[in-house]
Amino acid sequence: MAAISARLRDLLGRGRRVAALTGAGISAESGVPTFRSPGGFWDNESLLDLATPQGFARDPRRVWAWYDARRRQVSGCAPNAGHLALASFGRNHPDFRLITQNVDGLHAAAGSAGVILLHGDLFRVRCTEEGTSREDRRVPLPEIPPRCACGALLRPDVVWFGEVLPEGAMQEATGAARRSKVFLSIGTSALVYPAAALPELAKRHGAYLVEINVEETPLSPLADELILGPAAGVLPDLLGT
Ligand SMILES: NC(=O)c1ccc[n+]([C@@H]2O[C@H](COP(=O)([O-])OP(=O)(O)OC[C@H]3O[C@@H](n4cnc5c(N)ncnc54)[C@H](O)[C@@H]3O)[C@@H](O)[C@H]2O)c1
Ligand SMILES: [Zn+2]
Repeated sequence: MAAISARLRDLLGRGRRVAALTGAGISAESGVPTFRSPGGFWDNESLLDLATPQGFARDPRRVWAWYDARRRQVSGCAPNAGHLALASFGRNHPDFRLITQNVDGLHAAAGSAGVILLHGDLFRVRCTEEGTSREDRRVPLPEIPPRCACGALLRPDVVWFGEVLPEGAMQEATGAARRSKVFLSIGTSALVYPAAALPELAKRHGAYLVEINVEETPLSPLADELILGPAAGVLPDLLGT
């Protein structure tokens, strides 16, 4: 079992305001490949072709075929003990804020309410003309690339490289980070900005910064406490569920 300090247990026990940022690592034990894991979804394909507006403009069919496969894979995955521990902590601590870079929907599936989605949602589609977004959970999609009722192409409602984050989400996340007394950075390589700036911001505003990861990251030197271990093992122990 990973070591957790008495100081951290004390801070959590005293009901200090907590915020958490999660990345692909929290879903690893649910069977969702992380971004950079070998054999992961991203391994064989060029990122620039699949996760940029330019790649989509060049070949929407190819991008959609890949997203369709990804939706299919994620729809077969269930939340793990890490997602469940965060959901249960949120129920018991109404001022807890959960921020995620993930697009897999597993926090909501675990029962977390009001999750701040920084990078969108794999199971929503957005009209490229009207900008309107709606849920679409069909797997596989009946038509590739899918089209809106207005005739325009639909795109995945996710944030691609070079795009700005959804209006309001970053603002909410920034506020939550500033107000937190304990900030948990969980299963993220802490490389993708602007999300990666949140732990730093929390710490600058006085939070006790805790990193939970299976290995050290660029954030580790800044963390007040590094808990090395898989999220699904550490979180139930840490959050008392
Ligand atoms: N599940 C998803 O929705 C998903 C999956 C892949 C990529 N993405 C997107 O790609 C970007 C990737 O950035 P990122 O930092 O989230 O992911 P990343 O793949 O860059 O990093 C994953 C991190 O998780 C750690 N990790 C792996 N297994 C773990 C475990 N069991 N417990 C704890 N930590 C573990 C790794 O050491 C690594 O630091 C994000 O923008 C995200 O939107 C999302
Ligand atoms: Zn439309």
